[in-house]
Amino acid sequence: MRHFTRTLAVLALTASPILTSPVLTGPAWAEEVAPADVVFDEYGAVAKSLTGVPGDPAKGAEVMASKKIGNCVACHAVAQLSDTPFHGEVGPELSWTGEARSEAELRGILVNSKKTFEGTVMPAYYKTTGFIRPGEGFTKKPAQEPLPPLLSAQQIEDTIAFLMTLKDQ
Ligand code: HEC
Repeated sequence: MRHFTRTLAVLALTASPILTSPVLTGPAWAEEVAPADVVFDEYGAVAKSLTGVPGDPAKGAEVMASKKIGNCVACHAVAQLSDTPFHGEVGPELSWTGEARSEAELRGILVNSKKTFEGTVMPAYYKTTGFIRPGEGFTKKPAQEPLPPLLSAQQIEDTIAFLMTLKDQ
């Protein structure tokens, strides 16, 4: 009888609303959106955060400036990153992108810029499949897909957060 009572107590606890409270479904537990599962709208924008965790603009600035991470400054001038030398001019200047673009547009451009700018030279930073035989030019042997994305989901969110701070000075 005592055992039965305890079982009931456990059942009551399991069904308790605490366990289904938003705490367990909040941002820290949100699942990352995999590269193949990203949903674009008809203009190439991506409304949903890839991680549910707000981006860190300081880390985003590092992604953009570092040759080892995003190396965006190889193609884009960014006045706010003037400490980093060798800004390229292949792409447009991004010093006022925070005024010109929405977060959803920027997410789409970073995940796969080809959905916004057809045939662009800008790399798709969150893509693992669907490349046109990558590696072939160098090795004659295509690399095996899926390839790792150039940036992680959180690095994309961090970069968006930094881009949103860019207003013309
Ligand atoms: C190989 C060169 C190259 C690299 C590297 C590159 N981009 Fe681009 N990017 C471009 C070009 C070119 C365009 C213009 C689109 C077009 O017409 O092709 C562009 C467009 C953009 C735009 C849209 C600008 C606008 O408002 O019209 C954003 C934002 C952007 N890039 C951000 C980035 C970020 C952030 C990175 C690094 C993670 C990056 N780019 C890396 C070449 C590059």
